[in-house]
Amino acid sequence: MFESELSRRQYLTTVGGTAVTLSVAGCSGDDGDSAQTITAGTAPSFPPFEMKQDGEIVGFDVDLLEAVVEQTDYEFDGWEEYEFDSLTPALVNENIDVIAAGMTINDDRDETIDFSDPYYSSNQAIVVRTDGDFSPGSLSDLSDRPVGAQKGTTGEGVVQDELVGDEITQDQYNAYDNYVLAIQDLQNGNVDAVVIDVPVAETLTADRPVESAFVHETGEKFGFGVRDGDEARQTALNDGLSTVRESGTYEELTQTWFGE
Ligand code: ARG
Repeated sequence: MFESELSRRQYLTTVGGTAVTLSVAGCSGDDGDSAQTITAGTAPSFPPFEMKQDGEIVGFDVDLLEAVVEQTDYEFDGWEEYEFDSLTPALVNENIDVIAAGMTINDDRDETIDFSDPYYSSNQAIVVRTDGDFSPGSLSDLSDRPVGAQKGTTGEGVVQDELVGDEITQDQYNAYDNYVLAIQDLQNGNVDAVVIDVPVAETLTADRPVESAFVHETGEKFGFGVRDGDEARQTALNDGLSTVRESGTYEELTQTWFGE
């Protein structure tokens, strides 16, 4: 009945009274609750973007998305956890309304979903054990080595596109449900390298006997994923994102989570 909160408010101001309260209540019932809310989906074990701390999901994406939604007319309806490669189906099936998971904006994904404006940049790091036995300087140095990445990620894309069939066999690629497991398997010696987003590599190498050997430049940009054609949420998130940047909140959050 009412196009937006504004026209609803204008209607209230113009008419006033009990009858209007009734009609507004009826109206919001017709719209359905989900029309004005945002349920977010993420895939933890990708620090500092999202990780579990005492059973709670925390991280840069968590704080940033919540700050952005705060600037919109949408009500934030909480977080749902998925494995990374289940986030897009969850969005398409309307189990969630937004993906906030350090997700790289790319043409492949753009065919199925839409993205907000970019909010962070990344390349791929090649992480190895710190013992010094193997120090690759380029992708061709990974020849005949078992390599790991997280399922469904752009890191996996680098392995499949640049290594499998050329430098390594399909069997030498190990796909993990999350990057923490991949790095653990690197420590255990089951893979010799992990291809992983640079900011996450920096976090995970800080307190483990692994290090970044070199960076493969991919020029990736992270965006919030929204349903294809959900221009209302896309626009709201983009407006919210610029407000959060202008107010200094974005910078505060990068300082908190990346020490930048
Ligand atoms: N940026 C990479 C991609 O888009 C990795 C994202 C992984 N995110 C996560 N929450 N596990 O594929």
